[in-house]
Amino acid sequence: MMKRRDFIRNSVIGAGTLLLTKGGSLKAFADSLMDSRIEVLLGEPLGTISPEIYGHFVEHLGGVVYDGIWVGPNSKVPNTDGLRKELVEHMRKIKSPVVRYPGGCFADSYDWRDGIGPADKRPRRTNFWVGVEQASGPANHKYETNQFGTNEFVHFCKLIGSQPYLAANLRSLPAQQFYQWVEYCNAPAGTTALSDARAAAGYPDPFHVRYWGVGNESWGCGGNFTPEEYAVEFRRFTAWVPHFKEDLSFIASGPSDDQWSWTRGFLQEIVHRSPAQLRSIYGLALHYYTWNLSRGKTNDWVKGKGDALKFDTVDWYELLREGNVMESLINGHWQVMGEFDREHHIKLVVDEWGPWYAPGGEMTPNDILEQTPTLRDAALSAMTLDIFNRHPEKVAMANCAQLVNCLNSLYLAHEDKFCITPVGHVLDMYSAHQGGQSLRTIFSAPNVHYDRDGKPASFWGLNGSASLRDKEMTLTVVNPHVSEGRESEIGVRGAGIKSVSVTTLTNSDIHAHNTFEQRNIVQPQTKSLLMQGAKLTYIFPPASVTKLSLTLA
Ligand code: AHR
Repeated sequence: MMKRRDFIRNSVIGAGTLLLTKGGSLKAFADSLMDSRIEVLLGEPLGTISPEIYGHFVEHLGGVVYDGIWVGPNSKVPNTDGLRKELVEHMRKIKSPVVRYPGGCFADSYDWRDGIGPADKRPRRTNFWVGVEQASGPANHKYETNQFGTNEFVHFCKLIGSQPYLAANLRSLPAQQFYQWVEYCNAPAGTTALSDARAAAGYPDPFHVRYWGVGNESWGCGGNFTPEEYAVEFRRFTAWVPHFKEDLSFIASGPSDDQWSWTRGFLQEIVHRSPAQLRSIYGLALHYYTWNLSRGKTNDWVKGKGDALKFDTVDWYELLREGNVMESLINGHWQVMGEFDREHHIKLVVDEWGPWYAPGGEMTPNDILEQTPTLRDAALSAMTLDIFNRHPEKVAMANCAQLVNCLNSLYLAHEDKFCITPVGHVLDMYSAHQGGQSLRTIFSAPNVHYDRDGKPASFWGLNGSASLRDKEMTLTVVNPHVSEGRESEIGVRGAGIKSVSVTTLTNSDIHAHNTFEQRNIVQPQTKSLLMQGAKLTYIFPPASVTKLSLTLA
């Protein structure tokens, strides 16, 4: 039986309705037919939602970089300096805060020096994922051309207004190469041979890269280390890295799923050397993919996966149920971290998350690990972002895996074709939460009940998150029920509501998705409304993601 960790270890080489009445009260609500209530507690702030939890992930894998982002400066596809223009424009719109690059598993096989210097002099190398590629797959997916490297990536980040987050190779390069990559990126102009090399490529000014991942999945493709062995490597890699006056933030390779022993073993070894060493760690990376749709029948990484496009209503609920585990993982790892890091200096960085289905759901044949996101993935993504929003003190960053032509992609692109997926729309809708003050919010709604192969199963009926910036409140809500709308009274304890606008993402078909030919099948709809009274009720449509934007009085 194959588990994900083994796989990676062994890997290759409707519209809702707004009802407003005057003078509503809790009593009146209890007497009505409404069965749900959402109460936002203005007086109970949970912390600032780090904009970086709306981050992205780009790996040299399949069609992500070549075709997805990089089309080359001589392409007929509209581009800015070789970067797909339509993608750049959309990412700007969603306020992309941070992008992780160049992997993933690829990172621990990558030599950053291959990707700098004149494009025609850059070496062609075997890509880490070559063993997964099909014979018919494009050559530049199997053999890394290095046309897209550090310079192009940082330029891409600049164009979209995002921060770069570079994942360093800990498995197959010495620590010195890590230091020199930092130097190449951050040394002031004219100070060292590497800053001169950067200037010669057209970038005299430092890149100011703050976030550095120290290896990736070091329990698997990143070196098959034990947590204690990795802690020793982490110390060696992060000791005396030249800072160049940047506030370098090192992100340690963390656990997958509920690998509590990784979190514990790593921190134990760090603290064993000296508790002061905790200060060198900004974040601990947690990876969690939602993949097991076997309804409890297997934990086999291959057999347990479902189909991206063909699924029934039970699969819909099962995906959400599996995805909901994210909250207990955050709480669980946080608790273990607290055993060693009492003041919780180290934060969680969930730098890979999203659903992972069996092959077959690709929009572009031959794009490995590509799947076509549906409304189901929008619901899962919204639910996951709501979880992060509810834990602002714990989660400093998160990166949806992966940006384009991959697992939970925001965009699909091939040659001159492009579309925004339902997941992309969710990231757009939810960007309003970035930097807001997360507010405790109580959701009371009857559970959804369904039949899980002859056994009763249930899932929450409504859930979400709320945040506040000045007088603007954002409340995001998922109604997971595939066929029932949920009528709810919404209260803001501590303020009146002046105006409301509602953005809804839904479709009568839970399988709905966008394609290159039909780009707008799943699209958010926005309506505004001026508040007349104090009471707000709303019917959340079935299978929907909703954003309520409230201006408080
Ligand atoms: O996102 C695809 C792969 O999943 C990444 O390369 C790896 O880190 C993870 O196992």
